[in-house]
Amino acid sequence: MASTDQAAGGGTPGKGENKGTAQIGVTGLAVMGRNLARNLARHGYVTAVHNRTETRTRALVEEFGGEGRFVPAATPEEFVASLERPRRVIAMVKAGAPTDAVIEEFAALLEPGDIIVDAGNAHFADTRRREQALRERGIHFVGSGVSGGEEGALHGPSIMPGGSAESYAALSPMLEAIAAKADDGSPCVAHIGPDGAGHFVKMVHNGIEYADMQLIAESYDLLRHALGLPPERIAEVFRGWNQGRLDSYLIEITAQVLAHTDAATGGPFVDIVLDQAEQKGTGRWTVQTALDLGVPVSGIAEAVFARSVSGHADLRAAARELPGPTPTLLDSAAYDRFAEDVEQALYASKIIAYAQGFHQIAVGSAEYGWDIDQGRVAAIWRAGCIIRAAFLDRIRAAFDGRPDLPTLLVDDHFADALRGAQSAWRRVVSTAAELGVPTPGFAAALAYYDSLRAERLPAALVQGQRDFFGAHTYHRVDRPGTFHTLWADPDRPEVTAS
Ligand SMILES: NC(=O)c1ccc[n+]([C@@H]2O[C@H](COP(=O)([O-])OP(=O)(O)OC[C@H]3O[C@@H](n4cnc5c(N)ncnc54)[C@H](OP(=O)(O)O)[C@@H]3O)[C@@H](O)[C@H]2O)c1
Repeated sequence: MASTDQAAGGGTPGKGENKGTAQIGVTGLAVMGRNLARNLARHGYVTAVHNRTETRTRALVEEFGGEGRFVPAATPEEFVASLERPRRVIAMVKAGAPTDAVIEEFAALLEPGDIIVDAGNAHFADTRRREQALRERGIHFVGSGVSGGEEGALHGPSIMPGGSAESYAALSPMLEAIAAKADDGSPCVAHIGPDGAGHFVKMVHNGIEYADMQLIAESYDLLRHALGLPPERIAEVFRGWNQGRLDSYLIEITAQVLAHTDAATGGPFVDIVLDQAEQKGTGRWTVQTALDLGVPVSGIAEAVFARSVSGHADLRAAARELPGPTPTLLDSAAYDRFAEDVEQALYASKIIAYAQGFHQIAVGSAEYGWDIDQGRVAAIWRAGCIIRAAFLDRIRAAFDGRPDLPTLLVDDHFADALRGAQSAWRRVVSTAAELGVPTPGFAAALAYYDSLRAERLPAALVQGQRDFFGAHTYHRVDRPGTFHTLWADPDRPEVTAS
């Protein structure tokens, strides 16, 4: 390994003596790819590194060459030549057209049996297309979700690979080594399923992340504007919640953000941040895909729309003077109870968001023939990723106990939690409405819960309306068949439509 030791010390990129010495390679060395390559090298894997702009490759080896054995390559040809077979190439480049360009560039240099992993944030439909095209050329294409941001990529992300079982077998020792480890020591990586399954699951993960963040933000808003608590007191409330069933990365960092003081003004950091959030990529894809699949993900959708509303500054400015209730604070005697109620509403709404996300995964899996194990998905989200939470162990247990669970809501543990939370949840949503504090996430979650519970839904009336104006027909509750009512006839006789 003299040549790689030399490379690790910052030697000339990609010389012939490195031929076939690297066990895996990473191309695309911006923040994510660089950290993923370092993670692999730190775990003892000889790692080839390449970037379109060579300065990044040199910088990686110069700054971090001592962390492991890197084989720097100046060109795609040198990079591919430096890999042992089957060649394992991880592409960590900008999503979209750059990913297609990189895949094409490297596929032309690879041979049947070699593997390209796209570890970027691709749309699962693109992954399906790319996988099929490469399969026809004998090359395995793995679309892999990687969650945890740059810290996760370096110290242990949650990894969601989709592709052939054969390619997963060739990658799994490395992926298991670099993935985050759950409390029970198991690595947060699993073969999700064929072609686009990994990127689909990563997309839904991000949709759930949107919902989780929105629900936490609504909790903050209520504590601030219904109780009048200052941010540092709310940080204490979140720290307390983090000791209980809401224990999670997002609650933990929320407490830190709320406790943070702005150096320039000396005031709470949260008050100097412009209240306009972006909604790009995966959150939007989750909702678009859910609409295509006919899956109600209202909690996730409200989270995406809440960001969208926040970003419409002109619309908000135009509407700012519209009437609302006189701003009032709840009685300070109500403090403890209201804070407890908000915790209950947050937990219940969070259950709904996850139930909706897992429903989407189940429907996507059936639609595309992926056979996704939902318990495994929950298990690999327990550490490394942004939505990591103690709560995911309960979800894993729910699906492991009953793989055909129709919805998380009917699992005994979650049904009990919802039973215990529902009065508080209703009080929070009604108090928010009375005070004029927007809680689209809480309200949508509660409406979903009540819709699923309802003995009868007003969809019956909607069907009647549709039959009236468009002869769209309806089904009866008391006998089979499809019916249409002749609405123009004075006696409105019903006819069998088919
Ligand atoms: N940042 C995160 O927290 C995060 C988390 C999860 C997933 N991801 C995903 O991971 C991927 C990488 O993210 P990132 O933030 O590290 O980097 P990025 O800013 O998304 O992409 C920059 C990298 O892509 C390369 N690139 C762009 N166009 C290219 C082209 N036409 N041909 C070859 N290379 C090209 C750049 O090379 P040059 O240096 O030559 O410009 C650079 O290495 C993305 O798909 C992103 O969505 C990011």
